[in-house]
Amino acid sequence: MTGRQDIDLKNYIRHIPDFPKPGILFYDISTLMRNPDAWQIAMGRLTRQIAPLQPDMLAAVESRGFLTAAPIADRMGCGMLMLRKSGKLPGQTISHTYDLEYGSDTLEIQADAVKPGQRVVVMDDLLATGGTLAASIELLRKAGAEVVGASVLVELTGLGGRSKLDTTVTSLLSYE
Ligand code: PRP
Ligand code: MG
Repeated sequence: MTGRQDIDLKNYIRHIPDFPKPGILFYDISTLMRNPDAWQIAMGRLTRQIAPLQPDMLAAVESRGFLTAAPIADRMGCGMLMLRKSGKLPGQTISHTYDLEYGSDTLEIQADAVKPGQRVVVMDDLLATGGTLAASIELLRKAGAEVVGASVLVELTGLGGRSKLDTTVTSLLSYE
């Protein structure tokens, strides 16, 4: 007998070639989110991966990390915080600038977002080169967090991003 739990979630991820630039294959989670059963199952499976890390807080990376962190924080009964692009967060902030292929980018956190030593799992939709999550982990540590894991829905293993992250990394769907 096959049931809802046997759903292959990869069938709901759409691949769009040449977006946002020629030569880049975009893994689109919009088609997963559109299907209520598939999305609910994905959030349930992600929650079960993260639960053993026993986080006090989930840190959501702007912008697509917000989509996965919010429902999972709700299911786990833990808090969440936002890591945002520059200039979006009110009050005192701590920032971290990191290099991109061309140029650089800055992420920010509210200075009082975590209490010293709080266990934090950082969440994003996708792990590619690992630059975004590596910067997020550095920023969380600057703010006093104990980073106990990084969690993504989709991992592109061929880009080796995981090796840049010195924490436990979990992913739900991986692609070469
Ligand atoms: C995408 C994706 C991850 C990041 C992964 O975000 O949502 O955050 O890139 O790439 P990396 O592992 O090579 O750093 P993007 O910067 O496109 O912004 P968005 O989430 O705001 O759409
Ligand atoms: Mg992103």
